[in-house]
Amino acid sequence: MSAEPHPAEQGPCVVELKEAGPEAAELLSILHHAAFEGREPWDAAAFGQILGMPGVVVWLACVSQSEEAVPVGFIVSRHVVDEGEILSVGVHPQWQRRGIARVLLAHLVGRASQIGETLFLEVRFSNRAASSLYEQTGFWQVAVRPRYYEDGEDARLLKWSPR
Ligand SMILES: CC(C)(COP(=O)(O)OP(=O)(O)OC[C@H]1O[C@@H](n2cnc3c(N)ncnc32)[C@H](O)[C@@H]1OP(=O)(O)O)[C@@H](O)C(=O)NCCC(=O)NCCS
Repeated sequence: MSAEPHPAEQGPCVVELKEAGPEAAELLSILHHAAFEGREPWDAAAFGQILGMPGVVVWLACVSQSEEAVPVGFIVSRHVVDEGEILSVGVHPQWQRRGIARVLLAHLVGRASQIGETLFLEVRFSNRAASSLYEQTGFWQVAVRPRYYEDGEDARLLKWSPR
């Protein structure tokens, strides 16, 4: 990860989104590890498998650094007919609280809005930062999945709909 420290106080930054394919598996595993601080690790092999699944789409959020676009965040989703599921979203800790996840989500929601797609995702009850991000973007809770995570924590099932 070549991103240099950028404290959150620096405010919003310019984000460029790039679609990625299976070649990004290694990079995604590094970003995922950094964002989740080693919890819920998805290694490159896991990302390789996920990226090979039909309907899976990955967007990388890149920021400009020394005239280079450096990837610092990602969103992975899977789309089948008129439904999409957000599988993972993360931003490198050095770049959090600068509006990057909001840009990634807004991109998916914008596309879903255009094609009439409903989006779903699961989030830990304890993950207030992510819940706040999703609710700001227009997601709302439709169900609870008891003991959804390996450690026994429940998940909130959130939905976004264009209708
Ligand atoms: C959740 C995460 C993706 C947010 O990324 P981010 O780029 O920092 O988020 P943004 O700067 O776009 O913030 C958008 C909104 O999310 C909420 N938010 C983000 N981080 C937050 C935090 N640490 N505490 C409280 N709210 C937070 C706020 O409502 C924020 O809006 P505001 O800055 O106007 O208050 C990031 O913290 C992360 O990678 N976390 C670890 C991985 C993870 O939990 N992924 C989600 C799994 S479901």
